Amino acid sequence: MDPRGLLLLAVILVAEAALVANANFVFPVERRRRSLSAIKAHDARRRGRILSSVDLNLGGNGLPTETGLYFTKLGLGSPPKDYYVQVDTGSDILWVNCVECSKCPRRSDLGIELTLYDPKGSETSDLISCDQDFCSATYDGPIPGCKSELPCPYSITYGDGSATAGYYVKDYLTYNSVNGNLRTATQNSSIIFGCGAAQSGTLASSTEEALDGIIGFGQANSSVLSQLAASGKVKKIFSHCLDNIRGGGIFAIGEVVEPKVSTTPLVPKMAHYNVVLKNIEVDTDILQLPSDVFDSGNGKGTVIDSGTTLAYLPDIVYDQLIPKVLARQPGLKLYLVEQQFSCFQYTGNVDHGFPVVKLNFEDSLSLPVYPHDYLFQFRGSVWCIGWQKSVEQTKNGKDMTLLGDLVLSNKLVLYDLENMVIGWTDYNCSSSIKVKDEATGVVHTVGAHNISGASTFFIGRILTLFLLLTAMLIN
Ligand SMILES: *[C@@H]1O[C@H](CO)[C@@H](O)[C@H](O)[C@H]1NC(C)=O
Ligand SMILES: *[C@@H]1O[C@H](CO)[C@@H](O)[C@H](O)[C@H]1NC(C)=O
Ligand SMILES: *[C@@H]1O[C@H](CO)[C@@H](O)[C@H](O)[C@H]1NC(C)=O
Repeated sequence: MDPRGLLLLAVILVAEAALVANANFVFPVERRRRSLSAIKAHDARRRGRILSSVDLNLGGNGLPTETGLYFTKLGLGSPPKDYYVQVDTGSDILWVNCVECSKCPRRSDLGIELTLYDPKGSETSDLISCDQDFCSATYDGPIPGCKSELPCPYSITYGDGSATAGYYVKDYLTYNSVNGNLRTATQNSSIIFGCGAAQSGTLASSTEEALDGIIGFGQANSSVLSQLAASGKVKKIFSHCLDNIRGGGIFAIGEVVEPKVSTTPLVPKMAHYNVVLKNIEVDTDILQLPSDVFDSGNGKGTVIDSGTTLAYLPDIVYDQLIPKVLARQPGLKLYLVEQQFSCFQYTGNVDHGFPVVKLNFEDSLSLPVYPHDYLFQFRGSVWCIGWQKSVEQTKNGKDMTLLGDLVLSNKLVLYDLENMVIGWTDYNCSSSIKVKDEATGVVHTVGAHNISGASTFFIGRILTLFLLLTAMLIN
């Protein structure tokens, strides 16, 4: 790419760490608190805010031998059409394949129907021009050479080198707002999203796990979450429970009352959901690592990302972890499968033959990763190790610790941006959670979904869809 034509607006890598103490959530749900809730509801109405919870239907399966990703269904435009987009907490905008797109996938092996977004096919579609506030805010200032009739461009490169570029449009997003136990009502809100005109890498070619686009659940103002929060529709709190046993799971925006989760602070002012990993424990042994191995800054740090399939560790960590993980099985012979996975034959129950790996975070929050999560069954009695070295990951992210679906599945993971904390707890993702309706204080059950039962019989895409850089084309 020509560097003169390419203005890098934000090269987003991992940086600095800072710590804040926090408390667990305790939400009073007793009846006698009703009056307090009523006051809050009144206040909310007076401020013109109608905060409610949102239930996003999930599909997919994070296992590398399945789809390797999770997706949700959204409505866009008027009348609304359905779009299936990958759920990615590592990036910041929603974009969908648009009519202009030449290399976009037209069909998908996931058993879903793909749709190209056509601004002309929606009565409410509006082009965002480069002189509009959203555009200058996204680019941190006015855009050189902007004339009012020119569109506001977007361009994103993801961690695996795949990219999307196009322009921003504004239209109605239709979603399910929670209004009862396992019950939702359709709501809509005008939002700004990317109309994808040029895709490359895995986003362009294959039909294997093709989707209509990606919904970034990052912290930036451009994310759907931030836009819904800015228009008073939701609080900036969401949670996911990714079910790699049955597929799909739970994805909800709103305060979670049940299960209770312990949390760790999010490192402020970071482009991703960065947390402070203190150490790694295997069978009560703590890996002996240099004290700065997990420090943030200069492309390092620990990132939580639902858009990444596996988990990536700095070389030095990987090299200590793997022998410890295999220590109880001295006779195992490792061999390479599909040129990328270390695999072995094993016929017993992996949870009995291998240890739990505990990742310990700031504020005493730990993430237990069970053998059935970090080992995946390739076929028959062949098991493969899900942990990866981060060296092959990206040129710049060499020492980054990237925690994807491999370690996040089968847990309720809560992202609370109001309090800048993140937390999780082991959970049955085929069950349900309880969320509190902010306007009324009423608690509702949100259940699991599984959009598509289609499964694949090959190694899925190993995705690393965290935002690597956003760029913008001038002229
Ligand atoms: C948005 O919701 C309003 C109120 O329910 C409804 O009248 C309108 O038709 C909806 N618009 C779209 C595009 O669905
Ligand atoms: C994001 O939006 C908030 C509230 O609208 C604003 O205060 C803040 O400056 C914005 N942040 C950036 C980076 O534009
Ligand atoms: C998880 O929840 C589902 C739905 O309630 C239930 O059918 C299943 O047995 C549960 N699984 C476990 C391991 O408890």
